[in-house]
Amino acid sequence: MSSLAKAKAFCDQFALRCPVLMAPMAGASPVALAAAVTDGGGMAACGVLGMSPSVIAEWSSSFRAQSGPTAPLQLNTWIPDPPALRDPQKERKMRDFLQRFGPEVPEAAGDAKVVDFEAQVAAMIEAKPTVISSIMGLYPQEVVRKMKEQKIKWFAVATTVSEAIEAEAAGADAIVAQGMEAGGHRGAFRPETANDLIGLFALLPQIVDAVKVPVIATGGIADARQAAAAFVLGASAVQIGTGLLRCPEAGISRVWADALGQSRPEDTAATRAFSGRLGRSMKTAYVLACQQEEAPEPAPYPVQRGLTTPMRTQAAKTEKLDGMMAWAGQSAGLASEKSARQLVADVWIGAMQMLDPTSPLSKH
Ligand SMILES: Cc1cc2nc3c(=O)[nH]c(=O)nc-3n(C[C@H](O)[C@H](O)[C@H](O)COP(=O)(O)O)c2cc1C
Repeated sequence: MSSLAKAKAFCDQFALRCPVLMAPMAGASPVALAAAVTDGGGMAACGVLGMSPSVIAEWSSSFRAQSGPTAPLQLNTWIPDPPALRDPQKERKMRDFLQRFGPEVPEAAGDAKVVDFEAQVAAMIEAKPTVISSIMGLYPQEVVRKMKEQKIKWFAVATTVSEAIEAEAAGADAIVAQGMEAGGHRGAFRPETANDLIGLFALLPQIVDAVKVPVIATGGIADARQAAAAFVLGASAVQIGTGLLRCPEAGISRVWADALGQSRPEDTAATRAFSGRLGRSMKTAYVLACQQEEAPEPAPYPVQRGLTTPMRTQAAKTEKLDGMMAWAGQSAGLASEKSARQLVADVWIGAMQMLDPTSPLSKH
Protein backbone atom coordinates (compact mmCIF):
# COMPACT_ATOMS: atom_id res chain seq x y z
CA MET A 1 0.00 0.00 0.00
CA SER A 2 1.36 3.49 -0.84
CA SER A 3 2.11 5.95 1.97
CA LEU A 4 -0.92 8.08 1.09
CA ALA A 5 -3.28 5.10 0.79
CA LYS A 6 -2.17 3.90 4.22
CA ALA A 7 -2.82 7.33 5.75
CA LYS A 8 -6.19 7.53 3.99
CA ALA A 9 -7.16 4.11 5.39
CA PHE A 10 -6.35 5.40 8.90
CA CYS A 11 -8.54 8.47 8.26
CA ASP A 12 -11.41 6.23 7.14
CA GLN A 13 -11.06 3.99 10.21
CA PHE A 14 -11.18 6.92 12.63
CA ALA A 15 -13.47 9.31 10.73
CA LEU A 16 -10.74 11.94 10.28
CA ARG A 17 -10.13 14.38 7.41
CA CYS A 18 -6.40 14.50 8.25
CA PRO A 19 -4.21 11.74 9.74
CA VAL A 20 -2.86 14.26 12.24
CA LEU A 21 -3.36 13.69 15.97
CA MET A 22 -2.99 16.13 18.84
CA ALA A 23 -0.62 14.52 21.35
CA PRO A 24 -2.11 13.97 24.79
CA MET A 25 -0.36 16.48 27.06
CA ALA A 26 -1.15 16.39 30.78
CA GLY A 27 -1.52 19.98 31.97
CA ALA A 28 -1.47 21.31 28.39
CA SER A 29 -4.62 19.88 26.78
CA PRO A 30 -7.17 22.70 26.98
CA VAL A 31 -10.56 22.06 25.36
CA ALA A 32 -9.93 25.03 23.03
CA LEU A 33 -6.85 23.33 21.55
CA ALA A 34 -8.57 19.96 21.24
CA ALA A 35 -11.58 21.58 19.52
CA ALA A 36 -9.33 23.51 17.10
CA VAL A 37 -7.52 20.29 16.11
CA THR A 38 -10.93 18.70 15.44
CA ASP A 39 -11.91 21.71 13.30
CA GLY A 40 -8.76 21.17 11.25
CA GLY A 41 -9.82 17.57 10.59
CA GLY A 42 -7.47 15.82 13.04
CA MET A 43 -8.01 13.86 16.26
CA ALA A 44 -8.30 15.74 19.57
CA ALA A 45 -6.65 14.53 22.77
CA CYS A 46 -6.45 15.06 26.49
CA GLY A 47 -3.79 13.89 28.93
CA VAL A 48 -5.85 13.22 32.06
CA LEU A 49 -2.95 12.30 34.38
CA GLY A 50 -3.58 15.10 36.88
CA MET A 51 -7.40 15.05 36.61
CA SER A 52 -9.92 13.61 39.04
CA PRO A 53 -12.80 11.53 37.59
CA SER A 54 -15.19 14.50 37.80
CA VAL A 55 -12.73 16.79 35.97
CA ILE A 56 -12.32 14.12 33.24
CA ALA A 57 -16.13 14.04 32.85
CA GLU A 58 -16.33 17.86 32.73
CA TRP A 59 -13.50 18.13 30.20
CA SER A 60 -15.11 15.50 27.96
CA SER A 61 -18.57 17.07 28.01
CA SER A 62 -17.17 20.53 27.39
CA PHE A 63 -15.24 19.15 24.38
CA ARG A 64 -18.35 17.36 23.09
CA ALA A 65 -20.41 20.55 23.49
CA GLN A 66 -17.93 22.38 21.24
CA SER A 67 -16.99 19.69 18.74
CA GLY A 68 -20.05 17.46 18.62
CA PRO A 69 -20.92 14.12 20.23
CA THR A 70 -18.98 11.95 17.77
CA ALA A 71 -15.82 14.04 17.26
CA PRO A 72 -12.76 11.72 17.36
CA LEU A 73 -11.04 11.97 20.73
CA GLN A 74 -8.09 10.30 22.47
CA LEU A 75 -7.91 10.22 26.28
CA ASN A 76 -4.65 9.18 27.93
CA THR A 77 -3.14 8.35 31.27
CA TRP A 78 0.03 6.82 32.70
CA ILE A 79 0.29 3.21 33.79
CA PRO A 80 1.40 3.50 37.44
CA ASP A 81 4.83 2.47 38.68
CA PRO A 82 5.24 0.15 41.68
CA PRO A 83 5.42 2.24 44.91
CA ALA A 84 8.63 4.27 45.08
CA LEU A 85 11.42 3.34 47.49
CA ARG A 86 12.00 6.43 49.63
CA ASP A 87 15.40 7.66 50.85
CA PRO A 88 14.90 10.49 53.39
CA GLN A 89 18.56 11.58 53.28
CA LYS A 90 18.63 11.92 49.49
CA GLU A 91 15.27 13.70 49.58
CA ARG A 92 16.64 16.21 52.09
CA LYS A 93 19.58 16.98 49.79
CA MET A 94 17.14 17.48 46.90
CA ARG A 95 14.90 19.75 49.03
CA ASP A 96 17.91 21.93 49.93
CA PHE A 97 19.00 22.05 46.27
CA LEU A 98 15.51 23.01 45.08
CA GLN A 99 15.48 26.01 47.42
CA ARG A 100 18.04 27.65 45.13
CA PHE A 101 15.35 27.85 42.45
CA GLY A 102 12.16 28.36 44.44
CA PRO A 103 10.61 28.52 47.89
CA GLU A 104 11.37 26.24 50.83
CA VAL A 105 10.22 22.66 50.17
CA PRO A 106 8.20 21.20 53.06
CA GLU A 107 9.25 17.72 54.20
CA ALA A 108 5.79 16.38 53.29
CA ALA A 109 6.09 17.57 49.67
CA GLY A 110 7.45 14.20 48.60
CA ASP A 111 4.32 12.43 49.95
CA ALA A 112 2.10 13.99 47.28
CA LYS A 113 -0.38 11.41 45.99
CA VAL A 114 -1.17 10.70 42.36
CA VAL A 115 -4.80 10.43 41.27
CA ASP A 116 -6.22 6.91 41.66
CA PHE A 117 -5.50 4.99 38.42
CA GLU A 118 -8.58 2.71 38.56
CA ALA A 119 -10.87 5.72 39.08
CA GLN A 120 -9.25 7.55 36.15
CA VAL A 121 -9.62 4.52 33.89
CA ALA A 122 -13.30 4.15 34.86
CA ALA A 123 -13.91 7.85 34.12
CA MET A 124 -12.17 7.60 30.73
CA ILE A 125 -14.26 4.56 29.72
CA GLU A 126 -17.41 6.32 30.95
CA ALA A 127 -16.57 9.29 28.67
CA LYS A 128 -16.56 6.87 25.67
CA PRO A 129 -13.77 8.47 23.64
CA THR A 130 -12.70 6.99 20.28
CA VAL A 131 -9.36 5.99 21.75
CA ILE A 132 -7.77 5.49 25.16
CA SER A 133 -3.99 5.51 25.05
CA SER A 134 -1.36 4.27 27.46
CA ILE A 135 2.11 5.50 28.31
CA MET A 136 4.79 4.06 30.65
CA GLY A 137 3.29 0.59 30.39
CA LEU A 138 0.31 -1.46 29.19
CA TYR A 139 -3.25 -1.57 30.51
CA PRO A 140 -4.14 -4.71 32.48
CA GLN A 141 -6.15 -7.21 30.38
CA GLU A 142 -9.30 -6.52 32.42
CA VAL A 143 -9.14 -2.83 31.40
CA VAL A 144 -8.48 -3.74 27.74
CA ARG A 145 -11.56 -6.01 27.79
CA LYS A 146 -13.76 -3.24 29.24
CA MET A 147 -12.48 -0.73 26.67
CA LYS A 148 -13.16 -3.08 23.79
CA GLU A 149 -16.67 -3.89 25.08
CA GLN A 150 -17.40 -0.18 24.65
CA LYS A 151 -15.78 -0.19 21.17
CA ILE A 152 -12.98 2.08 22.40
CA LYS A 153 -9.64 1.54 20.63
CA TRP A 154 -6.36 1.26 22.53
CA PHE A 155 -3.27 3.13 21.29
CA ALA A 156 -0.05 2.15 23.12
CA VAL A 157 3.05 4.35 23.26
CA ALA A 158 6.27 2.41 22.54
CA THR A 159 9.85 3.68 22.55
CA THR A 160 11.51 0.43 21.39
CA VAL A 161 10.63 -2.35 18.93
CA SER A 162 10.24 -4.86 21.80
CA GLU A 163 7.75 -2.59 23.59
CA ALA A 164 5.77 -2.30 20.35
CA ILE A 165 5.66 -6.09 19.88
CA GLU A 166 4.61 -6.54 23.52
CA ALA A 167 1.86 -3.92 23.15
CA GLU A 168 0.48 -5.50 19.98
CA ALA A 169 0.43 -8.94 21.63
CA ALA A 170 -1.50 -7.44 24.56
CA GLY A 171 -4.21 -6.16 22.20
CA ALA A 172 -3.17 -2.61 21.24
CA ASP A 173 -5.06 -1.43 18.14
CA ALA A 174 -2.25 0.92 17.10
CA ILE A 175 1.28 1.71 18.26
CA VAL A 176 2.42 5.26 18.92
CA ALA A 177 6.14 5.12 18.05
CA GLN A 178 7.65 7.81 20.27
CA GLY A 179 11.09 8.98 19.15
CA MET A 180 13.56 10.47 21.62
CA GLU A 181 13.01 13.90 20.02
CA ALA A 182 9.65 14.06 21.81
CA GLY A 183 8.80 16.79 24.29
CA GLY A 184 7.45 15.84 27.70
CA HIS A 185 7.74 12.46 29.35
CA ARG A 186 9.11 9.45 27.51
CA GLY A 187 6.80 6.48 27.44
CA ALA A 188 9.46 3.81 28.03
CA PHE A 189 8.23 0.97 30.19
CA ARG A 190 11.14 -1.46 30.26
CA PRO A 191 13.74 -0.14 32.75
CA GLU A 192 16.56 -1.96 30.91
CA THR A 193 15.94 0.13 27.76
CA ALA A 194 14.53 3.31 29.31
CA ASN A 195 17.75 5.25 28.64
CA ASP A 196 18.23 3.98 25.05
CA LEU A 197 17.04 7.23 23.52
CA ILE A 198 16.10 6.00 20.01
CA GLY A 199 15.42 8.59 17.31
CA LEU A 200 12.24 8.44 15.22
CA PHE A 201 14.12 7.79 11.93
CA ALA A 202 15.48 4.50 13.31
CA LEU A 203 12.49 3.55 15.47
CA LEU A 204 9.56 4.13 13.13
CA PRO A 205 10.37 1.90 10.13
CA GLN A 206 11.53 -0.92 12.40
CA ILE A 207 8.31 -0.83 14.43
CA VAL A 208 6.34 -0.69 11.16
CA ASP A 209 8.17 -3.87 10.04
CA ALA A 210 7.61 -5.61 13.37
CA VAL A 211 3.84 -5.15 13.90
CA LYS A 212 0.67 -5.52 11.83
CA VAL A 213 -1.39 -2.76 13.47
CA PRO A 214 -1.13 0.88 12.28
CA VAL A 215 1.81 2.88 13.61
CA ILE A 216 1.49 6.55 14.58
CA ALA A 217 4.72 8.58 14.48
CA THR A 218 5.45 11.04 17.26
CA GLY A 219 8.47 13.00 18.47
CA GLY A 220 9.88 16.03 16.71
CA ILE A 221 7.13 16.37 14.08
CA ALA A 222 6.04 19.99 13.72
CA ASP A 223 5.71 20.68 10.00
CA ALA A 224 4.72 19.12 6.67
CA ARG A 225 8.28 18.06 5.71
CA GLN A 226 8.64 16.01 8.87
CA ALA A 227 5.15 14.53 8.48
CA ALA A 228 5.94 13.54 4.86
CA ALA A 229 9.12 11.80 6.05
CA ALA A 230 7.11 9.90 8.69
CA PHE A 231 4.57 8.75 6.08
CA VAL A 232 7.42 7.57 3.81
CA LEU A 233 8.83 5.60 6.74
CA GLY A 234 5.51 3.77 7.09
CA ALA A 235 3.46 5.82 9.55
CA SER A 236 -0.32 5.68 9.19
CA ALA A 237 -0.67 8.99 11.07
CA VAL A 238 1.44 11.61 12.83
CA GLN A 239 0.97 12.95 16.35
CA ILE A 240 2.06 16.47 17.31
CA GLY A 241 2.77 17.75 20.82
CA THR A 242 5.27 20.61 21.11
CA GLY A 243 4.39 21.73 17.57
CA LEU A 244 0.92 22.72 18.83
CA LEU A 245 2.04 24.53 21.98
CA ARG A 246 2.59 27.93 20.33
CA CYS A 247 -0.86 27.91 18.72
CA PRO A 248 -3.04 30.56 20.41
CA GLU A 249 -5.53 27.90 21.56
CA ALA A 250 -2.86 26.16 23.67
CA GLY A 251 -2.79 29.13 26.05
CA ILE A 252 0.61 28.32 27.60
CA SER A 253 2.55 31.06 29.38
CA ARG A 254 4.24 33.69 27.21
CA VAL A 255 7.77 32.93 28.48
CA TRP A 256 7.43 29.22 27.72
CA ALA A 257 5.95 29.89 24.25
CA ASP A 258 8.73 32.39 23.44
CA ALA A 259 11.43 29.99 24.64
CA LEU A 260 10.01 27.27 22.36
CA GLY A 261 9.94 29.62 19.38
CA GLN A 262 13.55 30.74 19.89
CA SER A 263 14.98 27.29 20.60
CA ARG A 264 17.29 25.06 18.61
CA PRO A 265 17.33 21.26 19.01
CA GLU A 266 20.39 21.52 21.28
CA ASP A 267 18.47 23.76 23.69
CA THR A 268 16.44 20.83 25.06
CA ALA A 269 17.52 17.96 27.29
CA ALA A 270 16.08 14.68 28.51
CA THR A 271 16.00 14.95 32.30
CA ARG A 272 14.57 13.30 35.41
CA ALA A 273 14.76 16.61 37.26
CA PHE A 274 11.03 17.40 37.36
CA SER A 275 9.29 14.14 38.14
CA GLY A 276 11.85 11.36 38.54
CA ARG A 277 10.81 10.00 35.09
CA LEU A 278 12.72 10.94 31.97
CA GLY A 279 11.20 13.81 29.98
CA ARG A 280 12.44 16.36 27.45
CA SER A 281 12.46 19.99 28.57
CA MET A 282 14.02 23.33 27.70
CA LYS A 283 17.51 23.61 29.22
CA THR A 284 16.45 26.03 31.92
CA ALA A 285 18.84 27.10 34.70
CA TYR A 286 17.31 24.41 36.96
CA VAL A 287 17.68 21.65 34.33
CA LEU A 288 21.29 22.67 33.63
CA ALA A 289 22.11 22.73 37.36
CA CYS A 290 20.66 19.21 37.69
CA GLN A 291 23.07 18.03 34.97
CA GLN A 292 26.10 19.10 37.03
CA GLU A 293 28.07 16.31 38.66
CA GLU A 294 27.55 17.67 42.19
CA ALA A 295 23.76 17.89 41.76
CA PRO A 296 21.72 15.54 43.96
CA GLU A 297 20.09 12.54 42.33
CA PRO A 298 16.38 13.04 41.61
CA ALA A 299 14.01 10.98 43.77
CA PRO A 300 11.90 8.34 42.00
CA TYR A 301 8.49 9.19 40.48
CA PRO A 302 6.18 10.49 41.95
CA VAL A 303 8.29 11.67 44.92
CA GLN A 304 10.42 14.02 42.79
CA ARG A 305 7.27 15.45 41.24
CA GLY A 306 6.00 16.30 44.71
CA LEU A 307 9.34 17.81 45.74
CA THR A 308 9.46 20.10 42.69
CA THR A 309 5.82 21.25 43.05
CA PRO A 310 6.58 24.39 45.15
CA MET A 311 9.25 25.53 42.66
CA ARG A 312 7.06 24.83 39.63
CA THR A 313 4.01 26.50 41.17
CA GLN A 314 5.94 29.65 42.05
CA ALA A 315 7.61 29.78 38.62
CA ALA A 316 4.24 29.45 36.88
CA LYS A 317 2.77 32.26 39.03
CA THR A 318 5.69 34.60 38.51
CA GLU A 319 6.24 33.65 34.84
CA LYS A 320 9.89 32.63 35.47
CA LEU A 321 11.09 30.08 32.94
CA ASP A 322 13.93 28.86 35.15
CA GLY A 323 11.76 26.94 37.61
CA MET A 324 9.00 26.02 35.15
CA MET A 325 8.43 22.53 33.82
CA ALA A 326 8.95 23.87 30.30
CA TRP A 327 8.58 20.65 28.30
CA ALA A 328 9.91 20.95 24.75
CA GLY A 329 10.64 18.55 21.92
CA GLN A 330 13.68 18.93 19.67
CA SER A 331 11.55 20.57 16.94
CA ALA A 332 10.22 23.31 19.23
CA GLY A 333 11.90 25.94 17.05
CA LEU A 334 9.60 24.87 14.17
CA ALA A 335 6.42 25.28 16.23
CA SER A 336 4.12 27.73 14.50
CA GLU A 337 1.94 30.47 15.97
CA LYS A 338 -0.87 29.86 13.51
CA SER A 339 -4.19 28.45 14.70
CA ALA A 340 -4.19 24.73 15.46
CA ARG A 341 -7.00 24.30 12.92
CA GLN A 342 -4.79 25.75 10.18
CA LEU A 343 -1.66 23.93 11.35
CA VAL A 344 -3.29 20.49 11.22
CA ALA A 345 -4.65 21.07 7.73
CA ASP A 346 -1.35 22.57 6.47
CA VAL A 347 0.72 19.67 7.81
CA TRP A 348 -1.44 17.12 5.99
CA ILE A 349 -1.94 19.03 2.72
CA GLY A 350 1.78 19.92 2.60
CA ALA A 351 2.80 16.31 3.25
CA MET A 352 0.43 15.02 0.56
CA GLN A 353 1.78 17.49 -1.98
CA MET A 354 5.35 16.39 -1.24
CA LEU A 355 4.53 12.68 -1.39
CA ASP A 356 2.54 12.73 -4.61
CA PRO A 357 1.74 16.07 -6.24
CA THR A 358 -0.28 14.34 -8.97
CA SER A 359 -2.52 12.32 -6.65
CA PRO A 360 -6.17 13.36 -6.49
CA LEU A 361 -5.77 12.92 -2.71
CA SER A 362 -3.40 15.95 -2.75
CA LYS A 363 -6.40 18.11 -3.67
CA HIS A 364 -7.78 17.19 -0.22
C1 LIG B 1 3.62 19.50 27.70
C2 LIG B 1 3.61 18.04 27.36
C3 LIG B 1 2.89 17.15 28.15
C4 LIG B 1 2.85 15.78 27.82
N1 LIG B 1 2.07 14.93 28.58
C5 LIG B 1 1.90 13.65 28.15
C6 LIG B 1 0.96 12.79 28.80
O1 LIG B 1 0.29 13.17 29.76
N2 LIG B 1 0.79 11.55 28.30
C7 LIG B 1 1.48 11.09 27.20
O2 LIG B 1 1.26 9.96 26.76
N3 LIG B 1 2.41 11.87 26.60
C8 LIG B 1 2.60 13.13 27.03
N4 LIG B 1 3.47 13.95 26.35
C9 LIG B 1 4.18 13.42 25.17
C10 LIG B 1 3.32 13.63 23.92
O3 LIG B 1 2.15 12.87 23.98
C11 LIG B 1 4.10 13.25 22.64
O4 LIG B 1 4.66 11.97 22.74
C12 LIG B 1 5.21 14.26 22.36
O5 LIG B 1 4.75 15.57 22.57
C13 LIG B 1 5.66 14.12 20.90
O6 LIG B 1 6.80 14.88 20.65
P1 LIG B 1 6.79 16.43 20.21
O7 LIG B 1 6.53 17.17 21.47
O8 LIG B 1 8.12 16.65 19.66
O9 LIG B 1 5.67 16.59 19.21
C14 LIG B 1 3.56 15.31 26.69
C15 LIG B 1 4.29 16.21 25.90
C16 LIG B 1 4.31 17.57 26.21
C17 LIG B 1 5.09 18.49 25.32
